[in-house]
Formats: sequence, structure tokens, C-alpha cells
Amino acid sequence: MENSLQPSGRDHSSRLRLRPTMLSDLDFVISVETDAQNLPFITPWERTQHEGAVRFPDFRHFIVEAGEHYERAGFVILQGCRNPHGSVELKRVVLKAKGQGLGRECVRQLKRMAFRDLRAHRFWLDVKSLNTRALALYRSEGFVEEGCLRESVRIVIDGVGAGYDSLIVMSLLDREYAARVALQLEPA
Ligand SMILES: CC(C)(COP(=O)(O)OP(=O)(O)OC[C@H]1O[C@@H](n2cnc3c(N)ncnc32)[C@H](O)[C@@H]1OP(=O)(O)O)[C@@H](O)C(=O)NCCC(=O)NCCS
Repeated sequence: MENSLQPSGRDHSSRLRLRPTMLSDLDFVISVETDAQNLPFITPWERTQHEGAVRFPDFRHFIVEAGEHYERAGFVILQGCRNPHGSVELKRVVLKAKGQGLGRECVRQLKRMAFRDLRAHRFWLDVKSLNTRALALYRSEGFVEEGCLRESVRIVIDGVGAGYDSLIVMSLLDREYAARVALQLEPA
């Protein structure tokens, strides 16, 4: 699949925002994370890991709010916000509603945060190769595939091991982001 050079026609920017996660949000975070729809694509954290990510400055843990009344729609986590090499990781993005353009808007806001606010040199992530939706999203938002960590995560179906999946490592560099901004592929 090729990188799309066209921004998405759907504009959710006016109805999606990120706000810092509070400890009182963690029941919501864990319920979204452990939802059967999402579990195949992520490795859920213990509550204490989320608590750490809310508190430690190397992380940014956000609730995604969307819709007319900005209801809680999911959460995102950045890691490496103080990385000495400027390598910031999109650690996790999990949304309740799928296929409505919220993921794309989240990724766009997170790129802006990584490069403009955190002054990242490299914004990277890994994604399971079976996660075709997320892969398509990241590719079309300019992320470049760096490599494949072969068979690095177990596939579990109904609690039973069913082989292994590979992780695809992807990144966007600051100069690539700047080029996308110049080409107006990134919203202002
Ligand atoms: C992955 C996730 C964040 C994407 O967010 P989303 O709101 O569902 O995605 P969007 O509606 O913004 O769609 C983005 C693109 O994904 C692709 N896509 C959407 N649904 C798809 C599907 N069922 N199959 C393949 N690709 C799909 C399309 O290219 C789409 O862009 P387009 O509609 O403009 O062509 C969300 O689905 C999610 O939370 N999934 C479960 C957890 C997860 O996988 N997290 C990522 C781990 S790396």
C-alpha cells in the first residue's frame, strides 16, 4: 500500500480534543483497553502502568474527547517526551468508535504535538501486522515503514495461543513532517 498524498476529506478537527488523563479516568481507560474489539491489537497495561504514565513527565496520557458534547471517545499515550534523542513514541491510541475519522484526527493532533510542542526529531510507533486498519491509517498519514520485528507478539484467541504476529516499526522524521506541512498535507 502506498502513502496517500491527499489529506482525508473528513474534518473532525472541530469536534475532537485531547485533555490530560486524570486518575479518575482510569476505569474508563481500562474498560476501553480491555474491550474485546481492541484486545487483539494491543497488549493491555496494568492500572499501575497507566498511573505511572499519568504521573511521569516522560509520558503524555490523554483522554480523547469527541462529539457535540466532547464525550470521552478513547485515549492516547505518548512516551519518550523527554527522550534525549528527540525520539518520541506514539505508544498507544485506542478509540471506542471505529471508522469515523477520529483516529486520523488523533494522529494529526499527535504529530503536531510531537513536532511542534515536544520538538521531536523522530515520531515512531509499532503496529501489529494484522492490524490493517491502523497500518492503513499510519501509512496514509506519512509514517514510513522501518522494519519488521518478526513474530514478536503472541496471537491469543479466546484465551488460547494461536501463533505469533509481527510488529511493523514505522516513523516520521521532523524534516518529513515539515515537507508535509509545506505541501499542505498537514492541517494548519
Ligand atoms: C486504529 C484506530 C485508532 C483507527 O481509528 P479509526 O477512527 O477507526 O480510523 P479512521 O476512521 O480515522 O480511519 C483511518 C483510515 O483507516 C483505514 N481504515 C478504516 N477502517 C478500516 C478497515 N476496517 N480496514 C482497513 N482499513 C481501514 C482507512 O484508510 C481510513 O481512512 P479513510 O477512511 O480516510 O480512507 C481505531 O480503529 C482503534 O482504536 N482500533 C483499536 C485499537 C488499535 O488498533 N490501536 C492502534 C494500535 S497500533
